[in-house]
Amino acid sequence: MAAPGGRSCLQYLLHLAQDNLDFRLPEIRALLSLRGKQFNPGKDFKENSPFWCLDGVSEPDVHSVMAKSVCAKSAFELWGHGRTHSELRESLLKYPSENMAPYMQKDSTYKINVYTFNKTLEFTDRITKIDALEYLQFVGTVSLKSPQHVFCLLEDYGTDPNKIPDDPFYIYFGRWIADGQRMLIRSHSVKNRHFIGNTSMDAGLSFIMANHAKVKEHDLVFDPFVGTGSLLVACSHFGAYVCGTDIDYNTIHGKGRSSRKNHKWRGPDENIRANLRQYGTEKSYIDVMVCDASKPVWRDGMLFDAIITDPPYGIRESTRRTGSNKDVTRPSDEYFGESHVPVSMAYHLSDIFSDLLNFSANHLVMGGRLVYWLPIYRPEYCEETIPFHPCLRLISNCEQTLSSHTSRRLITMEKIKIPEESDTRVHLSDPGFNPYQGHNAFREKYFSGLNKKNLKEDKMHVNGE
Ligand SMILES: C[S@@+](CC[C@H](N)C(=O)[O-])C[C@H]1O[C@@H](n2cnc3c(N)ncnc32)[C@H](O)[C@@H]1O
Repeated sequence: MAAPGGRSCLQYLLHLAQDNLDFRLPEIRALLSLRGKQFNPGKDFKENSPFWCLDGVSEPDVHSVMAKSVCAKSAFELWGHGRTHSELRESLLKYPSENMAPYMQKDSTYKINVYTFNKTLEFTDRITKIDALEYLQFVGTVSLKSPQHVFCLLEDYGTDPNKIPDDPFYIYFGRWIADGQRMLIRSHSVKNRHFIGNTSMDAGLSFIMANHAKVKEHDLVFDPFVGTGSLLVACSHFGAYVCGTDIDYNTIHGKGRSSRKNHKWRGPDENIRANLRQYGTEKSYIDVMVCDASKPVWRDGMLFDAIITDPPYGIRESTRRTGSNKDVTRPSDEYFGESHVPVSMAYHLSDIFSDLLNFSANHLVMGGRLVYWLPIYRPEYCEETIPFHPCLRLISNCEQTLSSHTSRRLITMEKIKIPEESDTRVHLSDPGFNPYQGHNAFREKYFSGLNKKNLKEDKMHVNGE
């Protein structure tokens, strides 16, 4: 297969960050599928490796992935690879010269970088490795400051920091194409954000969630448990219009006690709109409103491109909904208005997830995605405990460990069917069989057996600190 410009059979190399390992493949798959492409790994693909080869994609595809990925660090057009430097040499000498030619012109400038994974090399060793590539016969002028073309020799010394081999396990050489969006993790860190709360979602994970949801420009995205709006911040960065709801009046209106150090009350810039303004995406802000997710206010036919959310687990916030178990005599509507709800009752996790799936089945566009976190008590986890809906297909299920016995799973589902009468409220229709009941005791299980020290560590982990 010839690539544009007569360059044949190109393969690409991704260099991935070695954190959030479970989240990387679904992210890259989702971003490729936005281009109508599948993830075609090269031979000997290892999911946990920092290097993945990609077949069957074009350079614009790779650019588009890197414009959004927070899991990938850099991408290269792969020119050669091998287990040893002599295998690399053999592979590079076989690489079609017409593929190299556009980047090896006499009047061009270039530089060669050496990157080693799991090993630090002395400067002189790097220079020796660059000199050893002389068989490639680079023409043009070296420019370290502003080269037109950047080439890279990448050496993989494995993933065990306690067993670093003398020689690399694998070596790659290629032309650098693009960097990913890792800088967003710092630029959007909740540490410097105007409006935060004790459950604000970490920036990196928010962007990963947006990518798993395939959020793109002009999408309409909804978060039913919006909190301080971290997920709206990430989705608006990718050009989506965003809105959300939360049961907490103070959170929605940016009132009440501040989470900022030395501030007692929330100031005028401590609200969700101001968060988007901080990052220059206020134009994508639709609005947020006070609403109980168990009683959604949206009319039939209101459709979102993505629903992305972090429901309450009851660890750092209560899981309540409006209503009462008791027979409450409602005061007259004349006095309180129709919307007045005097009491609240427990909102069990199994109901939270059933409501969320039913809502998503009804309010996602066909092919739209639901992305949400599910808390897990690890000793009892099995795939059957992942909430199911006949109109939503499970796309990915990624674990983030919180402690030895708890974790949360990022669940991504895609709408594949318009719900019929029989599909609505599918989980709660048979009170004798609700496979998600096990989630209800998550709070007790989370706190069981935890002493004060690892409880503090666990909380920091939940916060992404
Ligand atoms: C884990 S927090 C979400 C945090 C959010 N992602 C952020 O970055 O700030 C869960 C949110 O759900 C809200 N909540 C709890 N019960 C609710 C309900 N019944 N309906 C709507 N929101 C609810 C809480 O007030 C809380 O803000």
